[in-house]
Amino acid sequence: MKMKKMMLPAAISAVTLALSASAMAATWKMATGDAAGGTQYELGTKFAELIEEKTDGDIKVNIFPNSQLGSEQDTVNNASMGMLDLSIVAINNITPFSPTVGVLTLPYVIQSAEDAKKLTQGEIGDQMTENTIRDAGVRILGWAYSGCRRLTNSVKPVATPEDLDGLVIRVPKNEIMIAAYQAWGVNPNPLAWSETFTALQQGVVDGQDNPYITIDAMKFYEVQDHVTDSCYVFSLEPLIMGEGQFQSLDPEMQQAVLDAGKEATEHSFEYLLETEADIKDKLVNEHGMTITEPANDEKEWIEQATQIWPDFYDSIGGKEKLDQALEALGREPA
Ligand code: MLT
Repeated sequence: MKMKKMMLPAAISAVTLALSASAMAATWKMATGDAAGGTQYELGTKFAELIEEKTDGDIKVNIFPNSQLGSEQDTVNNASMGMLDLSIVAINNITPFSPTVGVLTLPYVIQSAEDAKKLTQGEIGDQMTENTIRDAGVRILGWAYSGCRRLTNSVKPVATPEDLDGLVIRVPKNEIMIAAYQAWGVNPNPLAWSETFTALQQGVVDGQDNPYITIDAMKFYEVQDHVTDSCYVFSLEPLIMGEGQFQSLDPEMQQAVLDAGKEATEHSFEYLLETEADIKDKLVNEHGMTITEPANDEKEWIEQATQIWPDFYDSIGGKEKLDQALEALGREPA
């Protein structure tokens, strides 16, 4: 009897431990808008591998590529409401929910992978995370670096903004990107990413812009012939988790998630540097795309598009936010 009494608390705590371990074990669903094979998938698979390793297999991640779980903007909502564990989306698809991140999509602010790294991994990146938690209920855990967005189309080589005349270009549902095309003299067609390939295939639109790695992953070379080697926006693709879900994790697990995100981000940066040039070559040599250099080192594109900056000072939180980004990049204030 005495023996039984003594064993009872130990037995209870063993059961409790077993229960809490199994409550912790989970398989998280991660959405990506892009098909498998691009930078989103690379970041996602790296994060999945790291979190599984850091939690001794308690957390596994299943990736659902190609917008299977909804459009990128839908997945931001779903993660925020706790209906989806993780999603990787282009930054332009977070801006409608948290307009201050728009500073990262203002045309010609970020001009290289190094610029992108400086803005996402320093103080400005931390501010973006705080702002998306506050405005959109999602936490940025990591970043995929996908490269400059290049204009593609199925009709003709485009070297100047005037060459856009007569082309119907798809843009994300993002006010800044719509305004950039308007500054170049055309009215673009805002469409969800999940609808873009079909719209290009059916000729509803003639062109779109996205990085080389994305053009390849999405097989856009099957429906697009020409690429302009422009760099008006650098494609950043955050990995997000609903803040409610993050806060429900114990501190150790939160740290594992943050560490996995950080390490996966480093991996994404290296992946871009290692693969982008080869993918560009492949688009030309294997898939027959033609590449056109923007005329005059992109001068007209830059002059016209940067005129829209002041229209977005309010939404990004004031001109000082842009100046802070430019200063971090070693450039003059706007
Ligand atoms: C878009 O064009 O909507 C996005 O950049 C696509 C993506 O997530 O790769």
